[in-house]
Amino acid sequence: MQTALRTSLPETELASPANFAPHARVVREERPIHTSGLPLSIRGLRKSFGDNEVLRGIDLHIPAGQFVAIVGKSGCGKSTLLRLIAGLDKIDAGSVSFGQDIQPEDIRVMFQEPRLLPWARVLANVEVGLGRDRASKDAHARAEKALTEVGLADKRDQWPSVLSGGQKQRVALGRALVSRPRVLAFDEPLGALDALTRISMQRLLERVWRDQGFTAILVTHDVAEAVALADRVLVIEEGRIAHDVVVNVARPRQRGSAELAGLEGSILSHLLSADDRT
Ligand SMILES: Nc1ncnc2c1ncn2[C@@H]1O[C@H](COP(=O)(O)OP(=O)(O)O)[C@@H](O)[C@H]1O
Ligand SMILES: [Mg+2]
Repeated sequence: MQTALRTSLPETELASPANFAPHARVVREERPIHTSGLPLSIRGLRKSFGDNEVLRGIDLHIPAGQFVAIVGKSGCGKSTLLRLIAGLDKIDAGSVSFGQDIQPEDIRVMFQEPRLLPWARVLANVEVGLGRDRASKDAHARAEKALTEVGLADKRDQWPSVLSGGQKQRVALGRALVSRPRVLAFDEPLGALDALTRISMQRLLERVWRDQGFTAILVTHDVAEAVALADRVLVIEEGRIAHDVVVNVARPRQRGSAELAGLEGSILSHLLSADDRT
């Protein structure tokens, strides 16, 4: 079972900060449950794949607990940036720092596909998110709490195959939340959902972010989603942050309001003018 779990969900996908302490077991069991986010500072970050220079110097500071959305045309390096932030890929130059040493449980990534283990029931799938804490006494209780947070407590004994697409993503969100991460990175997590499910998931993301206070980094191709959820929208172009737009709109936000539509329009025009130049 151990081996199978590893194959399907490598430890690396649960984030692997380089400064992870090798003898952290005792520390871990006494670790307080954090409810606050971590700040993030990125300096001169570069990443190439062969000749393809994808990130050409990203400089960015995200204050603790901020909700940041990242947009940009397909292939501009959004997923690459998230992977570098989460420690899933190697940095070529520059740095990513959180202002303190972090544990693997502090950062979680949620992807577009839920990546659930088909042979494990819903509750066990959520427990996977506990990483090294999966064997701890309170693993069940923590997973149940996370499932309740995503509104799926009644599905704990189901198999993933009987769930809808939206429910599977809720399980994936529960798995991401169960370790109480201090940074949560989302790579187009709602991209495969239908419009209504998408809106209800957006509300859920916003609610858990407000309840738990983690720092949220959301990659999305949907600019309306970015302005509805984020405090700030970054536009990536040619390997750099080309625009950094503050969304100074009070919450709860009204989707479709003139204020959000205006911001959405101006970000879209940045993206389209970049497209015209290529
Ligand atoms: N592991 C990899 N090996 C080679 N090229 C890659 C790899 N990952 C991403 N790329 C390339 O880097 C560029 C940026 O990819 P990505 O970050 O996935 O873009 P986005 O998420 O913005 O669509 C693309 O040209 C992609 O083909
Ligand atoms: Mg991507």
